[in-house]
Amino acid sequence: MAATGSIVTSADGGTRLPTGGLEVIRTLELRSSAQQSLLAFAIGSSRIDGQCIGWLPTAAYVGAHEQGRIVACYNNADLVGYILWGTNNGIIRCFVVWVRRDARLILHGRALVDAIAEIGVQRGCTRIELWCAVDLAANFFWDALGFTRVCWRWGRAKRGRRHWLWRQRIMPDDDTPRRGTLSLPVALARPTEKALLPPAW
Ligand SMILES: CC(C)(COP(=O)(O)OP(=O)(O)OC[C@H]1O[C@@H](n2cnc3c(N)ncnc32)[C@H](O)[C@@H]1OP(=O)(O)O)[C@@H](O)C(=O)NCCC(=O)NCCS
Repeated sequence: MAATGSIVTSADGGTRLPTGGLEVIRTLELRSSAQQSLLAFAIGSSRIDGQCIGWLPTAAYVGAHEQGRIVACYNNADLVGYILWGTNNGIIRCFVVWVRRDARLILHGRALVDAIAEIGVQRGCTRIELWCAVDLAANFFWDALGFTRVCWRWGRAKRGRRHWLWRQRIMPDDDTPRRGTLSLPVALARPTEKALLPPAW
């Protein structure tokens, strides 16, 4: 199901904070006070749900924001969530997606992922990928969005948590291999472990 309301991926006029309906916007296009609120919101999210989204240093959020790699979601001008992304080798990667607890299950997360799918297409990416700890409810979210589980790896934290690699194609692959593209989409945190194909869901 598609998100309802008006969805924009760039600001009308560049500095206006969106009002009315559901809107998805790159944080760089917000006025500066809203940018600061967004950064505080994003940095604070790991204190609320660190077991889901992990921990990133403040500098990583600030750097991502300055590079235009954070998209915020507003519902009637109320900041409800954000997504932090990056690209390489024709893949757009979701590093963090977070929706306020009181604003979940009303399609804000889907709107954020749709926004980076559009950014990915604009940048010539063929797929979206992300790693998600196997014990998180978010796996149902990725499944509902039509992502496919590809393999798993151990996380980097000491307590050895497994993570699924989820993938969704956003454009067909062209036949030209990209320089530096890995033939296997698996980066193993523990090189002695073999990637396992996921069992049926
Ligand atoms: C994961 C998260 C971003 C989802 O955001 P959301 O706004 O609640 O998700 P949406 O309302 O857009 O849901 C989209 C679809 O996923 C499904 N879904 C979302 N969360 C779900 C859950 N916990 N269990 C089952 N289905 C779920 C919805 O039912 C919906 O399906 P539908 O379109 O078929 O009706 C949000 O729960 C969150 O911030 N979680 C904590 C952080 C986190 O885990 N991030 C991801 C780490 S990999």
